[in-house]
Amino acid sequence: MSDPLSKYKVDENNIRYIKKDIGKGAYGSVSLISMNETICIEKSLHTFLLGIHDEEDGVEESIQWKKFRQECDLLCQMHHPNIVQFIGVRYKGDSHNSKQILSLIMEYLPSSVEECITECKDEGYKIPLSIILSILKDVSCGLIHLHLNKVIHRDLSASNVLLTSGLQAKIADLGVSKLLNPLELVTMTQVPGTPYILPPEAYELNPSYTFQYDIYSFGVLSVYFLTQKLPYPPDFANIIQSLTQYCSLSMKTIVESCVRRRPTDRPSSIKLSTELTHHIHKYKFNFCRDKISFFSNTSVGMKMMVSLLAVPISAISIMCICCLFVLLFFIVFLLLFFIADVITILHM
Ligand SMILES: Nc1ncnc2c1ncn2[C@@H]1O[C@H](COP(=O)(O)OP(=O)(O)OP(=O)(O)O)[C@@H](O)[C@H]1O
Ligand SMILES: [Mg+2]
Repeated sequence: MSDPLSKYKVDENNIRYIKKDIGKGAYGSVSLISMNETICIEKSLHTFLLGIHDEEDGVEESIQWKKFRQECDLLCQMHHPNIVQFIGVRYKGDSHNSKQILSLIMEYLPSSVEECITECKDEGYKIPLSIILSILKDVSCGLIHLHLNKVIHRDLSASNVLLTSGLQAKIADLGVSKLLNPLELVTMTQVPGTPYILPPEAYELNPSYTFQYDIYSFGVLSVYFLTQKLPYPPDFANIIQSLTQYCSLSMKTIVESCVRRRPTDRPSSIKLSTELTHHIHKYKFNFCRDKISFFSNTSVGMKMMVSLLAVPISAISIMCICCLFVLLFFIVFLLLFFIADVITILHM
């Protein structure tokens, strides 16, 4: 049987490992690679998660596998500044072997909201409201794009919102999260945030998933980001009530609307994004000043700055080495010229 994912396969010759296992999640491990001199990540995924199985006359495509392929089709077409770019797939091992490993290649982002929250909390740094709101606004824009393309994320946790070195947010793990039931993920993932992003309807006997599923997760993410406290279900109502300690009353109202019990009572991603935009415009935040403070006062900010400088620094270092070689060549040339001169003078 022909390889169903061949059209997404990347050229193996262009791949070089930079650092293996930079992170681990519910689906496998993440490694840092370079592809065509661009830094990317490779997320290894066990194919047994996709339910592939052997048949006498070859490999039968399972429903999960078909869905995954459809997902890849969709992900490849998704180009949005607030969604992590999917680049292609690789897989290693025998296609008849259940131990076969599939990996997804995606663009690399230096940090995540989860990392940002935990590190700032450890360092006692209060993340400026302008930064939180700008990131939440980016997430809502990413959600609009997903929902317009009929994709429900289902795992919108703080670890799945990644950040560029300029603090732009991008939603990660779309598609992959749909391969498994999110309730299965609760037992599989190591990340403490994930179980709390599940809306009440996820616990029903026959859960029905709507776009409002992601809106609930967005609400929980906002509470976690604003308070820097994991919103455990027993305390959730109290934490929501105390939100005005962290943001304005109108922001609290937006967050409250996202975590309403009935999915139909929650706003659409378009309405949510519009409300957030109005809210951000109402307050005159000094985003630039806050960004400088974030970069200079937190280790996660420093890490982002370093990743921002990594490419120019490597370009500069190559240029410096070239200049050094040219200089060395001139010195040797001058020296030879001088020696030749001395020899001629001595012979005269
Ligand atoms: N595109 C990416 N660029 C850089 N780091 C990434 C990227 N995608 C994932 N990571 C990092 O790799 C680690 C593991 O990611 P993974 O998505 O497998 O698990 P997770 O997000 O921690 O949990 P979950 O299983 O709920 O998604 C995380 O620390 C994450 O920040
Ligand atoms: Mg993830």
